[in-house]
Amino acid sequence: MVRATPFLLVLFLALGAHSATVKKCNLVGRWVNDLGSNMTITTVNANGNFVGSYHTAVSATTNEIQESPMQGSQQRTNHKGQPTFGFTVNWSFSDSITVFTGQCFVDEDGKEILKTMWLLRSRVENIKNDWKATRVGINVFTRL
Ligand SMILES: *[C@@H]1O[C@H](CO)[C@@H](O)[C@H](O)[C@H]1NC(C)=O
Ligand SMILES: *[C@@H]1O[C@H](CO)[C@@H](O)[C@H](O)[C@H]1NC(C)=O
Repeated sequence: MVRATPFLLVLFLALGAHSATVKKCNLVGRWVNDLGSNMTITTVNANGNFVGSYHTAVSATTNEIQESPMQGSQQRTNHKGQPTFGFTVNWSFSDSITVFTGQCFVDEDGKEILKTMWLLRSRVENIKNDWKATRVGINVFTRL
């Protein structure tokens, strides 16, 4: 009993130190998703707005893929370090647009991961084709 006490104290301090340094998820950096698309978020400003570039690995068009600008916002009232966010990709090589929403998580292994859903709006010739103009999907991003 007497010998167990210092060990428990060390264990308690180790666990305490761990929970005090909970890692936050930061959107800034280079990310790759499950399709092999890459994006770079250069900065998130004090208002939570950010800009970056998106290099998609897939396309709904036959046009040659080009890196495209994106801009978005992170929810800055999120104080727990796992913020929600949204961004728009303004495709440089087609007349389509994509909006993403997601949350920046720190997983059980301490790795940052972005869980997102998107809507891709393709341009159609007229309102009769509106019904087929929007695609929906899910992407998971990890650090590149
Ligand atoms: C994403 O980045 C990786 C590593 O730099 C590269 O091999 C790959 O071609 C890139 N893909 C796109 C779509 O940019
Ligand atoms: C959107 O893309 C178009 C075509 O590439 C470009 O002219 C325009 O500056 C872009 N706008 C933004 C806000 O990135």
